[in-house]
Amino acid sequence: MNEDKQKMEKIISLCKRRGFVFPSSEIYGGFSAIYDFGPYGVELKNNIKRSWWKYMVQEREDIVGIDSAIFMHPKIWEASGHVQGFADPLIECKKCHNRFRVDHLLENIGVIADEKMSEDEIGKIFNDNRQKIKCPVCGKNDFTEIKKFNLLVKTNLGNLEGNITDENVSYLRGETCQGIYVNFKNVLDSTRMKIPFGIAQIGKAFRNEITARQFIFRMREFEQMEMQYFVHPQNDLDEYERLKKNRWEYYLSLGIKEENLKWHKHEKLAFYAKDAFDIEYNFPTGFKELEGLHARGDYDLSQHSKFSGQSLEYRDAITGEKYIPHVVEASVGADRVFLAIISEAYTEEKIGDEDTRVVLKFKKELAPIKVAVFPLVKNKTDLTTKAREIYNNLKTQFNAEFDDNGNIGKRYRRQDEIGTPYCVTIDYDTLKDNTVTVRDRDSMKQVRINTDTLDEYLREHLKL
Ligand code: GAP
Repeated sequence: MNEDKQKMEKIISLCKRRGFVFPSSEIYGGFSAIYDFGPYGVELKNNIKRSWWKYMVQEREDIVGIDSAIFMHPKIWEASGHVQGFADPLIECKKCHNRFRVDHLLENIGVIADEKMSEDEIGKIFNDNRQKIKCPVCGKNDFTEIKKFNLLVKTNLGNLEGNITDENVSYLRGETCQGIYVNFKNVLDSTRMKIPFGIAQIGKAFRNEITARQFIFRMREFEQMEMQYFVHPQNDLDEYERLKKNRWEYYLSLGIKEENLKWHKHEKLAFYAKDAFDIEYNFPTGFKELEGLHARGDYDLSQHSKFSGQSLEYRDAITGEKYIPHVVEASVGADRVFLAIISEAYTEEKIGDEDTRVVLKFKKELAPIKVAVFPLVKNKTDLTTKAREIYNNLKTQFNAEFDDNGNIGKRYRRQDEIGTPYCVTIDYDTLKDNTVTVRDRDSMKQVRINTDTLDEYLREHLKL
C-alpha cells in the first residue's frame, strides 16, 4: 500500500476508533455511502459549520442566512433542470446485475475519466477500454450499454388527506441552493437587502450517488454550505473574482496550507454558465474537488420565474432599472471540509527513539475538545475534588473533558489523538500553591499557571 493510501486508511480507522465517524447502521451491516458522526465528529463538524457561518454571514453586512425545508414543491426540481439532467453515466454487469459508475470502472484499470468530462467523452473512453474492464463483484467482462442514472432521491409525501399515491412523488433536495432561489423574493421583501447581496444556507442534501470506497468524500446524505450572491448583470464576473478570492482566504484561515489547495477551471460549462472553478484540496487520495464556484448568469431566477409564474425581477430603487439578477455561487460540503481538516491535521511524530505519537493539529477554534483536566493520580480524594472543581468551572466556558484513567502519558496521547489543544494537570503542588500544569498539544511544553488566571490564559491562547 502506498503512503497516501495508508494515510487514508489510518484516518478512517482513527475516525471510527475515536468516535469521529461511524458507518451508518453498522450493527445491521452498514448502509452504503451513508455515515454517522460520533461524539467528537459532531463537535468538529459543528465548529466547521460555525466558522463558515461566521465568515459568510456574521461578518458580512451584505449576506443573510436562511434555513429552508428539505421538502420542496416538486416543480422546483423541474425548473432547476434536475429532473431531466441530474445524472451520472452508469453501467450494469449482465452476469451479477450490480451497477457501477463508468468513471469508477475506468479508475480500476488506471484510466482517469474526470467527473467533469462529458458523457460522450467518458462513453468513448469506456468503449475504447471495454475489453480490459472486469466487473469488480463477479470478475466477468459482460456489460450493458451505458445508461444515465438520475441522482435525485424520490420520495412520497402524503396528500392533504394523508394518502400516498404515485402522483405525490416529491424529492429530497439534491442541493440546498434551490431553497435560496425560491426565497429570493421573500428575503428582498422582508429585509433591507439591496443588490449586490447574498443568501447563505447550511443544510442536508441527498443524492443517489453510485459510489465505492470514498468514505465521507462522496455520500448519499451530506451537508452543504452554500451562498448565492445576487448581482447586477454587468458586474457578475467582477463579483465572481471577488468571491473566488474570499473563498480561498477562508481555507487559509482554517489553517490549510496553501500548497494543499489548487484551482481547477471547468473547460466545459453548462449552457447558461459564464465561468466555473473548483477549489481542490490535496486529500490523501490526491487533489480533488473541495468547493465549487460558479457564475450562473440569470438561469436560476429566470427558470423559477418561468415555472412559478411569479416575477423575480429586481427593481433598483435609485435608477428604477428592472432586471433579473445574476448569481455567483460558492458551494461546499461540510463533510468534505471535515475530511480536508482531518487530513491536514493528521500528524505522526517521533518522540525519542521508539515512541510515535499521533496528533490532530487542528486550528484551535476547530478542535472538538479545547481542554482536558487530569488529577495526577486516581482515587486521591483531595486531588480529585480539586480537579473536579477546576473542570466544573472550565466546562461552562469551553468544551472540556475530565480524565483520570491511566498514567499521564497515556492521557496526553489520548487527547493528542483527538486534537485537544491544552491539558491541565492537578498535582500535590496545586493543593499547596493553587497552581496547575498546562501542557500545549503542539510543542508539548508545560507551564505552571495559577488557577485564578487559568480561564484567562486558556481564552487568550485558544483565541476565543
Ligand atoms: N449548488 C451547486 C452544487 O450543488 P455540486 O458541485 O454538485 O454543486 C457542491 O456540489 C459541493 O457539495 C461539492 O463541491 C462538494 O463539496 C459537495 N458535495 C457534492 N456532492 C457530494 C456528496 N455526494 N457527498 C459529499 N459532498 C458532496
